[in-house]
Amino acid sequence: MGKKIGVVTGGGDCPGLNAVIRAIVKAGDLQGFTTIGIRGGFDGLLTPVQADPLTVRDMDGLLTRGGTILGTASSGKFSSKTGQGETRKIPGDLMTQVRQTTEALGLNALVVIGGDGTLTTALQMHESGLPVIGVPKTIDNDLDATQQTFGFDTAVACAVDALDRLHSTAQSHNRVMVLEVMGRYAGWIAAYAGLAGGADIILIPEIKFNMPSIEKKIRSREATGKLFTIVIVAEGAKLDETMVVSDNTKTDREIRLGGIGYAIAEKIQEKTGKESRCVVLGHLQRGGQPTHWDRQLCTRFGVQAVHMAANKNFGKMVALKPSGMMGSVDLKDAVNRIRSVDPYGELILTARTLGICFGD
Ligand code: F6P
Repeated sequence: MGKKIGVVTGGGDCPGLNAVIRAIVKAGDLQGFTTIGIRGGFDGLLTPVQADPLTVRDMDGLLTRGGTILGTASSGKFSSKTGQGETRKIPGDLMTQVRQTTEALGLNALVVIGGDGTLTTALQMHESGLPVIGVPKTIDNDLDATQQTFGFDTAVACAVDALDRLHSTAQSHNRVMVLEVMGRYAGWIAAYAGLAGGADIILIPEIKFNMPSIEKKIRSREATGKLFTIVIVAEGAKLDETMVVSDNTKTDREIRLGGIGYAIAEKIQEKTGKESRCVVLGHLQRGGQPTHWDRQLCTRFGVQAVHMAANKNFGKMVALKPSGMMGSVDLKDAVNRIRSVDPYGELILTARTLGICFGD
């Protein structure tokens, strides 16, 4: 029987998932592996099993296509993160079924493409004896063990484009425009997009903000004749020390953040009397074609995963090292280690030096 790599995508969709799958199938083919696509996330490994071989021909056009051809799930039986990131143990009987399916399919390696939650499940699978390799995906860029996750660059590009567009309306109407972006508990998207998109105020979870500071910034702009203000706020930024949650009723997934942008816009209007509007960018950040940066990162991640499969380098996650080279890290050292924006780091200091306000 020939060598086989199984590939599964989990958690929220993200630009570049298909580019990773393509790289695995193409590089795997040249190294004598058949790639088996598992459909619908880890559930595809339960009965009825949803798994089909992926051919090189099937990969046509996938470098640029958003979403995942395999489907995914960010809630359900295999969610190992719930609430505000609490870890949940996947039941033993599910693990047994997954192991049986993996053996029945003859998989020599299972490549799991996902963020912290999915990779936590992957680690549990590895600990139960499966030959797992992780690939770091998330627009939030919040995994500490890799210099960057794929999808982040595309999400930032989307947020910058939105800021560019909001500038016209803000300027034409002398308004305050607030853009709420994703990122969960980290402010990477807001910080990078705010800098690249010329925001005047950036609000992130890592820096505690207050309304008087925001009001002061808007008034000081007015005093110099700048009658509009652009604010970017990360969904996880805390208002009066509390995150704004749009749904916390589900027990099989993490809480859903959202709503802080509207709250901030309302408060700004109340304090300054200036018309203030909010736009929530939402899933636009996760859709569409990956940027050229994400395409090359995904391709390198996918090829590295195949090298690791060939070398039986299991229980590890592919990582972009500080040297800029591909490498790997133990899965146990990659999960549960969230990377936050350093409030005293060069990125934030650069923004402050330009006069950008963080509301503190
Ligand atoms: O982790 C990626 C992410 O897009 C977060 O930025 C966001 O909080 C969350 O997923 C939203 O997930 P869903 O689409 O499942 O509501």
